[in-house]
Amino acid sequence: MKGIILSGGTGSRLRPITHTGPKQLVPVANKPVLEYAVSDFKEAGINEIGVILGNKGREEIQELLGDGSKHGVDITYIVQGNPLGLAHAAGCARDFIGNDDFVMYLGDNILKQGIADLVDSFEAGGYGAGIALQEVDNPKQFGIADVDDKGNVQRLVEKPDNPPSNLALIGIYVFSPALFDAIERLEPSWRGELEITDAIQYLLEDGYEIDSHIVGGWWKDTGKPEDILEANRLVLEDKTLKSRGTIENGAETSGKIDLAKSAIIEAGAVVRGPVSIGDGTTIRDGTYVGPYTSIGENSTLDGVHIENSVVIGDSEITTSKKIVDGLLGRGANIGSADEYLPEGQRLVVGENSQLKL
Ligand code: DAU
Repeated sequence: MKGIILSGGTGSRLRPITHTGPKQLVPVANKPVLEYAVSDFKEAGINEIGVILGNKGREEIQELLGDGSKHGVDITYIVQGNPLGLAHAAGCARDFIGNDDFVMYLGDNILKQGIADLVDSFEAGGYGAGIALQEVDNPKQFGIADVDDKGNVQRLVEKPDNPPSNLALIGIYVFSPALFDAIERLEPSWRGELEITDAIQYLLEDGYEIDSHIVGGWWKDTGKPEDILEANRLVLEDKTLKSRGTIENGAETSGKIDLAKSAIIEAGAVVRGPVSIGDGTTIRDGTYVGPYTSIGENSTLDGVHIENSVVIGDSEITTSKKIVDGLLGRGANIGSADEYLPEGQRLVVGENSQLKL
């Protein structure tokens, strides 16, 4: 069994964060989303992994994962280029996969329970494909499965106007190499992409059995800012957090705090977990960091009140305003306008930024 991780796409719903890098590198609890997929593969005993690259951020992804050795896996990079669809991306991995079965993992998905059960079930059964499903409130935004009372998949349809159920295909699939013949017969969908959902529908029509599972535990597609914040909340809640940094006497801390080795919480700061704070970051006197917040590396927070937020890193935040539900890109500098005249907010705002003042 091999694995592929899809790391292409445009990341348009995460702009401006994705103007400078791929969405799969946005950190959740201070770990890039992409690394969760690698950890899940390793845990399932899959060590040969192909990482599919789009046009954006190829160097950053290769810099992060390298040849895989630091994660104990073997990584091969495969260039897809333009995002012509999930099935097109899978097709690019044909030579890498050869005659093996494989797991396809969408690089912007995070899943609480990992993939080992899905892999074991697929390997036991001689299936054409294995799919993982979860109930969603907004089925028009996903690939949807129509499943009968016995759990047999009847039909699959991508982002339907009239969803036959609310069971969404989550971004983890197991395939036999029969998938590649199905991909060759695909035509682009209404959104101009070769859809993996249509390829699995072909396998079904060709008489292959599809192994389907309703996945317990949470799953998040981190395509939008609010999804990143929710994934961050879910991971922080579950994580066994390590506190290795410095908490000065006179700092007030409670709950789970994941404090990197060279991070400092100074006297007079208040930090209530679950919170993750990266290397080289200082939480100064008078600062409050509240639950479900991750602060990346090399940042300074001085006097701000912040909660339920992700600060990616290399940032300086000294405003006295309260920040809630924030997603702050690398290098963000948020100060105070109080000492300037005329009074008012002073903003240098990048393309596609979102501010609620
Ligand atoms: O998240 C689950 C959903 O993922 C499924 O329910 C849908 O059936 C499936 O089509 C997919 O829908 P999305 O519209 O959310 O897919 P998205 O375009 O966001 O791409 C998912 C990942 O695959 C993302 O990490 C980018 C990467 N990708 C995407 C395309 C279109 C590629 O690497 N290459 C591509 O050509």
